[in-house]
Amino acid sequence: MTRKIVVLNPKGGSGKTTIAINLAAYYAAQGLGPVLMDHDPQGSSTRWLKKRLQDQPRIHGIAAYEKNFRVTRSFLLRIPPGTQRVVIDTPAGVPAHGMPDLVKGADAILVPVLPSDIDIHACSKCISDLLLVAKVRRSEGRIGVVANRVRRNTVVFNTLMRFLATLQIPVITTLRDSTNYLRAAELGYGLHEMKPYLVREDTETWLPLIDWLESRPPLGATASPVPLVEASTPVLEAAS
Ligand SMILES: Nc1ncnc2c1ncn2[C@@H]1O[C@H](COP(=O)(O)OP(=O)(O)OP(=O)(O)O)[C@@H](O)[C@H]1O
Ligand SMILES: [Mg+2]
Repeated sequence: MTRKIVVLNPKGGSGKTTIAINLAAYYAAQGLGPVLMDHDPQGSSTRWLKKRLQDQPRIHGIAAYEKNFRVTRSFLLRIPPGTQRVVIDTPAGVPAHGMPDLVKGADAILVPVLPSDIDIHACSKCISDLLLVAKVRRSEGRIGVVANRVRRNTVVFNTLMRFLATLQIPVITTLRDSTNYLRAAELGYGLHEMKPYLVREDTETWLPLIDWLESRPPLGATASPVPLVEASTPVLEAAS
C-alpha cells in the first residue's frame, strides 16, 4: 500500500525539508522503497539526496519543481513499483489556492511549526487554509502538527503548546533544536542513520510521529493517490 505524506507550511524555515528527508531516510532503512518528491524550486531535498552514497538505503527522488512540469495522470507511472511511501517536500510561500493540489490524496499532512510569535501566526493561517480552502476535514484526522526546534520550559514553547491546543489539531511530536539535524543533512544522512548513541535523544522524538503516520487509515477509494505529473518528469536517484 502506498502512503502519501505531505510536509507543508508556507512559512519559510519551519522544518519542512528536515522532516521530509529524515522521514524518507527512515522509510528507506525500513525497506519501504520511499519516493522523495521535491516541490521546492530551491531543491533542498534534491540536493540532500544527491549527497547519498550507493551503499545507503535507496530513495527514489522526483524533482517535481522542474520547470517543464505539467500535471497529468501519467505521473503514476513514474512511481517505481514497490513504492510504499511517498514523502513530499513543499516550498515556502505556497499560496492558499496552491494547497488543494499539493494535499490531494495525502494520507497525512504534516505542518511543522517553530516556537515564535511569527511562526505561531503563520501556522494558524496554514491550518485555516487547509481546512477552508483545501477542504481538508478536521474529522479526517489527516493533519498533524510537529512542533520543531523546541527548547522545553521556555516561555515561547509554552505559548506554542497553548496555541496548538486551541487549534484542535493534534500535535504529533516535538523535535528538539539539535545540531544532529544539521550534521546529518550535511552528510546526506537521515537522523536514524547516524551513530545511535549520538542521536538517541532525537530519534526517540520521532517514534510518536512514525507511529501516528503508520496508524493513518488509508484514504477512501475516491481520493486520487498522488499528485499527477507527466511522464517526462526528471527522476533523480540516489544509491541503490
Ligand atoms: N529540529 C531542528 N534542530 C536544529 N536545526 C533545525 C531543526 N529543524 C530544522 N533545522 C534547520 O533549520 C533550517 C531550516 O530548516 P528546513 O530547511 O528544514 O526548513 P524549511 O521549512 O524546509 O525551509 P524552506 O521554507 O526555506 O524550504 C535548516 O538549516 C535546518 O537544518
Ligand atoms: Mg525546505
